[in-house]
Amino acid sequence: MSYRLLEKNLGFEQPLPVTETWSAAPDFLTLISDHCLQNKPEVIVECSSGTSSLVLSRCCQINQTGHVFSLENGEAFVSKTNDELKDFSLSGYCDVIHAPLRETVLDDGQYQWYDITRLAEKTIDMLVIDGPPGFLQKHSRYPALPVLSDRLAEKCVVFLDDAARDDEQQLVRNWLQDHPEFSYEYIDNERGCSILRR
Ligand SMILES: C[S@@+](CC[C@H](N)C(=O)[O-])C[C@H]1O[C@@H](n2cnc3c(N)ncnc32)[C@H](O)[C@@H]1O
Repeated sequence: MSYRLLEKNLGFEQPLPVTETWSAAPDFLTLISDHCLQNKPEVIVECSSGTSSLVLSRCCQINQTGHVFSLENGEAFVSKTNDELKDFSLSGYCDVIHAPLRETVLDDGQYQWYDITRLAEKTIDMLVIDGPPGFLQKHSRYPALPVLSDRLAEKCVVFLDDAARDDEQQLVRNWLQDHPEFSYEYIDNERGCSILRR
């Protein structure tokens, strides 16, 4: 799978803006777009904005239903993603929410994680986790499930990118211990993808 093929399959009329090391890989974007097109989720929340926001928004446009709420800690990246959404005429399908990282206290410790004050209280059908960056702290992406679990729909799916890394493998084990009601699938693609379904 390549970005070119993904663009073709989703009918993008211009190349997706991609930053080699930071954008989600095409195989991960294909997994989330396939799910989105098949299941037509109404409320999609993603942790970190960028190419993934364009892909998910395009799926909502094709589906003629659904909306993306993208948590983004970097103010410059909020503007960048908003400009890209505008270029692709997809602004109506995605709210990029400036969500600076702030100290988030959980049972097992403290993390720098998104401030979700501006995230509307909606029931989440699909959660896509591709941030915050892993170098920030151990188990950087762990808070996503404990913080948002109360907002997840009874039937929901969670996609975690970069799941091949030891850190992500460990944090998924912790999630599954705390939430045995989720089924688990690991996709052995370029960077690894963990999928939790309920
Ligand atoms: C893995 S990136 C996000 C990728 C996004 N989901 C996508 O598919 O493009 C995680 C975070 O890194 C930051 N980021 C994105 N591009 C960056 C760059 N070129 N240099 C430094 N940080 C970047 C942004 O704050 C972003 O939310």
